[in-house]
Amino acid sequence: MSIITLALTKGDRVLQQELDLLAKIDIRPLEDIRQSRKLVIETSRDDVRLMLLRSSDVATYVEHGVADMGMSGKDVLLEHGEEGYYQPLDLGFGKCAIWVAGLADESELPRRLKVATKFVNVAKRYYADRGQQVDIIRLYGAMELAPITGLADRIVDIVETGNTLKANGLVKVDKICDISMRLIVNKIAMKMKHEPVQRLIASLSEATL
Ligand code: PRP
Repeated sequence: MSIITLALTKGDRVLQQELDLLAKIDIRPLEDIRQSRKLVIETSRDDVRLMLLRSSDVATYVEHGVADMGMSGKDVLLEHGEEGYYQPLDLGFGKCAIWVAGLADESELPRRLKVATKFVNVAKRYYADRGQQVDIIRLYGAMELAPITGLADRIVDIVETGNTLKANGLVKVDKICDISMRLIVNKIAMKMKHEPVQRLIASLSEATL
């Protein structure tokens, strides 16, 4: 029997939805994930175990084959680079979008924009595609503060409800892409553990419908 290691994104926003989806196909963690400090968790299925990772690490673990499969946000995959694994399934939750946003009053924009973001690669590609030269400033959180304080002219960030933008006097400028959670699969596991991997993809696919 081959064991499938499935990496989950530990983030508050999506963990419950990941677990709900797994419960639909009768995969349940054997301990309370929120209480436990363990990072590898056995499940009700002998052949499936879970790995709890930071969102930005799921693709790395799957790419290197430490995890056979993973659930990760498309935003993180775009930023990480999408060549090192397969992406067979849109899981249909964790929906949001990456937007360019700026101050409502942009009357004094400089010719060369400063753009603050944690999605440095996504932002670089977006402006390169437009032939627009900008200076990218890497931030790790609280992006919305950058235009207000003058650190940057624009931000590239996740927008879900739009509440954070609104609360900070910012407006959407341009949508870069829609985001949702994706199932990703290690390329070698797809060959070597073909049957169990395909079965899991098929049942997850059915459960997301
Ligand atoms: C994201 C994003 C925005 C906020 C948008 O941050 O960076 O700040 O959510 O959501 P809204 O449109 O519903 O207001 P998150 O809370 O994920 O934390 P992070 O900045 O630490 O990633």
